[in-house]
Amino acid sequence: MKISIVGSGYVGLVTGACLAELGHEVLCVDNDTHKIEELRQGRSPIYEPGLEELVRVNARESRLSFSTSVQEATAHGTIVFICVGTPPGPDGEADLSFVEAVSREIALNMEEYRLVVEKSTVPVQTGQWVQRTIAHHVRSGVEFDVASNPEFLREGSAIRDFMHPDRVVIGTSSDRAASLLVKLYEPLNAPLLLTDINSAELIKHSANAFLALKICFINAVSRICEKSGADVVRVAKGIGLDRRIGVDFLQAGIGFGGSCFPKDVEAFIGISSKLGYDFKLLREVLAINQEQRQVVLTKLEASLGDLAGKRIGLLGLTFKPDTDDLRNAPSLDIVRLLVERDADVRAYDPKGMERARGAGEAMEVVHYCDDPYEVAENADALVVVTEWDVFRRLDLQRIHGAMRRPFVIDGRNIYDPARMRRLGFEYHGVGR
Ligand SMILES: NC(=O)c1ccc[n+]([C@@H]2O[C@H](COP(=O)([O-])OP(=O)(O)OC[C@H]3O[C@@H](n4cnc5c(N)ncnc54)[C@H](O)[C@@H]3O)[C@@H](O)[C@H]2O)c1
Repeated sequence: MKISIVGSGYVGLVTGACLAELGHEVLCVDNDTHKIEELRQGRSPIYEPGLEELVRVNARESRLSFSTSVQEATAHGTIVFICVGTPPGPDGEADLSFVEAVSREIALNMEEYRLVVEKSTVPVQTGQWVQRTIAHHVRSGVEFDVASNPEFLREGSAIRDFMHPDRVVIGTSSDRAASLLVKLYEPLNAPLLLTDINSAELIKHSANAFLALKICFINAVSRICEKSGADVVRVAKGIGLDRRIGVDFLQAGIGFGGSCFPKDVEAFIGISSKLGYDFKLLREVLAINQEQRQVVLTKLEASLGDLAGKRIGLLGLTFKPDTDDLRNAPSLDIVRLLVERDADVRAYDPKGMERARGAGEAMEVVHYCDDPYEVAENADALVVVTEWDVFRRLDLQRIHGAMRRPFVIDGRNIYDPARMRRLGFEYHGVGR
């Protein structure tokens, strides 16, 4: 099938490369000329394990090509996926201006039947509005359908998630659209959920909000563990083994970040309020998550006092491992709070340092190191911010020897507290 993707970021590029790998002829479009130039030269503009190789192979075999033109995208694909960003607007509601611009441009260029699929995460009822937008601009007599096909991939394992999804959700009221999308996804052998557009959109927001809620729940429990002497890792295991609850997303830590959970929860609160429901539970989720980032600072100050001039080393900056994405990462708040206190901040991240350097004023002050051992040199404290595998395998004796004060805040609970104490560290995990 001929497929077009408009918006070739984390979701669009993975979707395009994977659909090409499944044998389709895919055109990936983006209005960022630099991104498209890099892609044409066989380089992935983002770090995602396996993606560059997939892009290269499929481009070489002419199943994957790149363009900056939405007009070309509309001419090429029978199915046109909209994968542009839906960032938070000033009031927290999703900013749909990119979705609107692309829908209009597709409509203006449509010459024969097209199925326009929103893959971007959007508030419920956006599909109806996209339908109206296209109907308003399309030349009369040209048929089209709109469908919602939310994406559930996770950065860091995006290709595996796309190729082996827990489910594929297809929301549409058109049989023609449904059968095109069912055929497209058939090779994945995944459970297909065919539903209406509003429900599909709401599935995505509800899923992300529920996962965010689970993380916040265990983080709240971790605070009680710290006050009572319980161990949150054991508590999480004990509740997670209940099949009704499940062990996933019950890892206590310094809170969630990334380009999805924070903005999707906010957007969900926004659309709920617009529809007349005050989603207080989700407002509390955001508040708990924000507090959790502050916990690192509270612990540092409780042990080190005034942080001015103290050398604080950060292990990890990205919002999760195996990505270079720093959007809404806890590290951004932690660095800002440390810089406000005149701490001497050093950091190392395997993939995130290039983006970190350009991520705001506070991040420019950070001293970026070549490896974790340099971060530890003469440090008054080390904070594990992101659970990259490389940090699990450190020579901890060497780290201990390098630090001025062997004080570790393990924001992701990657180390065994008993071992850390045996090695002579003053060790603080989260909720243990
Ligand atoms: N990143 C994830 O893990 C993830 C997972 C599931 C869903 N989503 C959702 O998917 C959507 C995209 O997220 P992302 O992380 O890929 O964002 P992204 O910022 O990485 O990519 C969006 C791309 O769209 C391009 N773009 C914007 N306007 C355009 C236009 N008019 N024409 C052509 N290209 C245009 C941008 O240049 C950018 O490359 C969002 O709604 C997000 O919530 C993201």
